Amino acid sequence: MTQEFTITRLGHQGDGIATGPLYVPRALPGEVVSGTPEGDTLAEMRVVTPSPHRVSPACRHYRACGGCQLQHASDAFVADWKQEVVRAALSAQGVEAPLRPIHTSPPQSRRRATIAVRRTKKGTLAGFHGRASDVITEIPDCRLLDPALLAAIPVGEALALLGGSRKGVLAVTLTLSEAGLDVSVSGGKPLDGPFEASLALIAEQHGLARLAWEGEVIASRHAPAQRFGKASVVPPPGAFLQATKDGEAALLSAVREAVGNAKRVADLFAGCGTFSLPLAETAEVHAVEGEATMTAALDQGWRRAQGLKRLTTEARDLFRRPLLPDELSRFDAVVLDPPRAGAEAQVAELARAKLPVIVYVSCNPVTFARDANTLIQAGYRLNWVQVVDQFRWSAHVELAASFSLAHIGG
Ligand SMILES: C[S@@+](CC[C@H](N)C(=O)[O-])C[C@H]1O[C@@H](n2cnc3c(N)ncnc32)[C@H](O)[C@@H]1O
Repeated sequence: MTQEFTITRLGHQGDGIATGPLYVPRALPGEVVSGTPEGDTLAEMRVVTPSPHRVSPACRHYRACGGCQLQHASDAFVADWKQEVVRAALSAQGVEAPLRPIHTSPPQSRRRATIAVRRTKKGTLAGFHGRASDVITEIPDCRLLDPALLAAIPVGEALALLGGSRKGVLAVTLTLSEAGLDVSVSGGKPLDGPFEASLALIAEQHGLARLAWEGEVIASRHAPAQRFGKASVVPPPGAFLQATKDGEAALLSAVREAVGNAKRVADLFAGCGTFSLPLAETAEVHAVEGEATMTAALDQGWRRAQGLKRLTTEARDLFRRPLLPDELSRFDAVVLDPPRAGAEAQVAELARAKLPVIVYVSCNPVTFARDANTLIQAGYRLNWVQVVDQFRWSAHVELAASFSLAHIGG
């Protein structure tokens, strides 16, 4: 039976939440909505009283596509909400949040995306999955992706025709590089000789820089380099990269400011050197990262670059084997950018080591707030938090934060 509900807040996935809790995707706080409750969600939702923050979605695919969650809300609302997510996470740990104004990446700036591609009776279907569904929505007018990335969707279709099954879905990661498109595929047919030759032909026909299948490089026609400051790095297939160049620049600028004139910097969870290599323009850097293929790429990029200070790399699992105080004591500043789980073990050692400056880049406000509290308990001051929204119209929140030892200031 149809009932009415008032949305009281947004959850971490960007869903509206009414008392119950009842989760109502694409509803905003203060709105009255109607529909039929099914478990903890609302079927056939209609907005009875819209929020003043409700806007027409920028993209014509929004209704069916699951790529974006918050296009029905104004930019100002999303910006305030993301800041509030960080404020609330810190407040739950008893930490006050000195938030700077948010930085949001422009539309059509995503330089990397994973599209889903399936073979069909008629050919192929390529795009993003619908929200919590297996259905793939085509996205020819997507407002998120860089136009060059959008133009690459036919590559995914060609790969699915050759190497996809009618049952399985191919995950095709497309990344823009300095030398063209870098493509990495999983979920397809197993490799064999003739199949590899056909894949290499597709790489040739579409002018791909590189094509990898289940992590194995099939064709490397041009090195798919990424520029990090003065260095050019060729990441291993599918390696982590910040989602937009604009977001990367905003995070790097915050990191540079917080590091200040430190002369010896440790960059932990360093990836392929997004922060390490630009920092090596003014400081000696030790870059630590779990994936040896990434530290090798970083090292190569440093060796080929001109005018950088000394940079060393170390492949190390920082969850199991965090850097210890006696290893940390030789640095003036530490930058860390862990995955969503945060860096509990490493932060416990940082709390003991008492370095003057710590810069924490995070993609999860909840684990960040937990780790921030550990540092504050150890005598650090949280100077500022810069929220960076490079996953526009999604519920993701990223940030960079500056800590310094309270008695030193900063
Ligand atoms: C959010 S990414 C940041 C990478 C880099 N700072 C950048 O901006 O490109 C997190 C990195 O942590 C690495 N990582 C994940 N778990 C790890 C662990 N237990 N020990 C060390 N590194 C880890 C990942 O491989 C990834 O490169």
